[in-house]
Formats: sequence, C-alpha cells, structure tokens
Amino acid sequence: MSELIIAVDVREETKLQDLLSALSGQPVWIKLGFESLYAFGLSLVERVRSRGFRVFADVKLHDIPNTVGAASRVVTRSGAQLFNVHCSGGHAMCASAREESAEEASKLGLPRPLVVGVTILTSLSVDDIHAVGYLGTTQEAALRLAGIGQRAGLDGVVCSVQEAASVKGAFGATFLTVCPGIRPAGADVQDQKRVSTPRGAVLAGADFLVVGRPVTGAMDPGAACAALLREMNG
Ligand code: C5P
Repeated sequence: MSELIIAVDVREETKLQDLLSALSGQPVWIKLGFESLYAFGLSLVERVRSRGFRVFADVKLHDIPNTVGAASRVVTRSGAQLFNVHCSGGHAMCASAREESAEEASKLGLPRPLVVGVTILTSLSVDDIHAVGYLGTTQEAALRLAGIGQRAGLDGVVCSVQEAASVKGAFGATFLTVCPGIRPAGADVQDQKRVSTPRGAVLAGADFLVVGRPVTGAMDPGAACAALLREMNG
C-alpha cells in the first residue's frame, strides 16, 4: 500500500508546531529537508519522531564516498527511518551510504534506515537535463541513475510518477519508489514540472508519495492531508 509523506518545509517554530499539530494522528511520514534541517538542526528528527511520526530526512547527500559515509552515520544516529543521496554521486558513494548507515544502526541497536537515491529532480524538464549534460529522455536518465543506485544496494529511488512504473519494471517490485511532484487535480503545480495526481501515483505503483505545499500552504493542512489520503485510496 502506498504511503503519504508530508514535506514540512518550514523554518519558523510556530509554523512547525502548527503543522505537526494539524497532522497529528494522521498515518503520514514527515519529510524534513534543507529548509527545516538547516533551520532547526538534525535534532529535529527526534522531536518529530516523539510526536508519533516516521521521518524521512531529505538530506540529498552528494560528495566523495568517505564524506557521504560519515554523514550517513550521523543521519542514522538522528533516528531518521529513511534518508537519501544523489545517485549521480556514483556507485561507490551510494554504496558507502548504504553500508555505513547499516553498520551504524547495528552498532546502536536500531533498525537500519532505508536509503534511497535521487534520480532526476521533478522540477527538471528534458531541456533542463540536457543543459546539465544528461543524455536521452528524463525517463532514460532516471532509469540509468536508478540502476547505479540499485547496483550499489540502495533500497529504492526518488523519481517522478512518470518513471515509477518503468523503475519497478526494470528493478523489481520491491525496489522502492518515492515520488514527489504530486498535485491534486486542478492545484497549482508551482516549480514542479513532471507532476501527477495522488490517485495517478498510487496506480503507477509509487510506494511513497511526497507532498509539500498543497498541504503546508493550505488554510487547513489537516483537512488537506486527510483529503489526499482519501484520494489516494480512491
Ligand atoms: O511543495 P512540493 O509538493 O512541491 O514539495 C516537494 C518536496 O519534495 C520538496 O521538499 C522538494 O525538495 C522534494 N523533492 C522534489 N523532487 C525530488 C526530490 C525531492 O520535489 N526529486
């Protein structure tokens, strides 16, 4: 069954508290990304977990393997149950994230976090990816990057809904797909380019749907989240 992850992209304490309270009791994960983690620090993971949520630390690691391995240990120690790296960092970098996070978790007696690789950001069009040197369609580029992640032992990838079915086809049903770029029908797509509706994402086989502004920017985030869960379940 697909799960919903709410991207809590905030930097003010009152906004953070209001959102967590509004989402309290709903069966969702919370994604903490650059804005919230840089504003509050990695200790935010434990604060959010203590409110009963599972946490995806959207740290998008991308550096030399030694640095990413060490950072993966720190992220694992924070208690995040899922975190990510950029597949474009290459095989050795992805493998060191996966291996060092598992080692650190076992040292701490924790379940190891899931590690997924970012393929192509959902805000990029085919022209954008060509401009930075990728070849082929966004789907071909995403599959190539997903292959790097899979061979390095990652649990899955972050990709758009458009690529989710082909990722599953190429790498198997248990290889996780985490899909941002989700917009309820008729909603503003903002800077996202490769978007899908929540139901479309579920039907495409996305394991995790990542939704930010349609919930965090709503007048009533709790109601917007509940509506998304209903739409996902048809
Ligand atoms: O507000 P919105 O629903 O567009 O938020 C999507 C979230 O997913 C943001 O936090 C963004 O950083 C993240 N994300 C993304 N595309 C990726 C990876 C992460 O949009 N490929």
